[in-house]
Amino acid sequence: MTATLIDGKAVAARLRAGLATRIAGLGWAPGLVVVRVGEDPASGVYVRNKDKAAREAGFASRTRHLPEATTEAELLAEIAALNADPAVDGILVQLPLPAHIRAEAAIEAVDPAKDVDGFHPVNAGRLASGLPGLVPCTPRGAMHLLAGAGATLRGARAIVIGRSQIVGRPMAQLLLGADCTVTIAHSRTADLPGECRRADIVVAAVGRPEMVRGDWIKPGAVVIDVGINRLESGKLVGDVAFTEALPHARAITPVPGGVGPMTIACLLENTLEAALARRG
Ligand code: GUN
Repeated sequence: MTATLIDGKAVAARLRAGLATRIAGLGWAPGLVVVRVGEDPASGVYVRNKDKAAREAGFASRTRHLPEATTEAELLAEIAALNADPAVDGILVQLPLPAHIRAEAAIEAVDPAKDVDGFHPVNAGRLASGLPGLVPCTPRGAMHLLAGAGATLRGARAIVIGRSQIVGRPMAQLLLGADCTVTIAHSRTADLPGECRRADIVVAAVGRPEMVRGDWIKPGAVVIDVGINRLESGKLVGDVAFTEALPHARAITPVPGGVGPMTIACLLENTLEAALARRG
């Protein structure tokens, strides 16, 4: 057996095209503001990509770039102004923030109804309570990919490797909501290979290059690799040893070209959802 590749680029392109069609039919443009503070170089690329994708789909997108020396109070005041602006449906504060600003303070300042990152504790709590709300983009994208790969979720054993607020925890909640039996594994898990070998669905989100080995994959499992790690050679690899996993998995996401492209598409999906919830 060799695994089918799950083409995140194609799924994301279809999702974005569908959003563009829906927005064209609205007659008004949902508003997205991405707030960037300081000069983190990677953030510059990410923010430009988000803004470009949003404009292409028909959103009224803008970037608010604040200087490195912005104080926490100034950032919170900026967020409060965006919360109060009726033309703004979605607010995303790009992370990381400069060290003198507490990320939690910025995240908690965003109106939960405009929190298109899904990071606000109100949205995290709603997800954990099985209530509707805005869901973090990367796990939402991973769920789309599982659906696209035809994975049976009800009753399946799923393992999520990694317990971050941004990916691991919300991913586990989404899988639980889809009736999987979910294990959340982390750096202190005893016998991680054994836990992984029982899983029909594997979601790797640890940020450690090729940590999940091929012989940890149950024959026929569906593997979603959230990791993007750059090796010293410059090569990008996931958290799963991809070539080793191919003969075991039924379907697997490549890195790059798997989960990555879905994150921006789901940000746009969240922004449209937030806009429709606010404005009907
Ligand atoms: N920095 C890297 N990824 C993300 C993300 O998904 N959201 C935000 N706000 N910042 C990020």
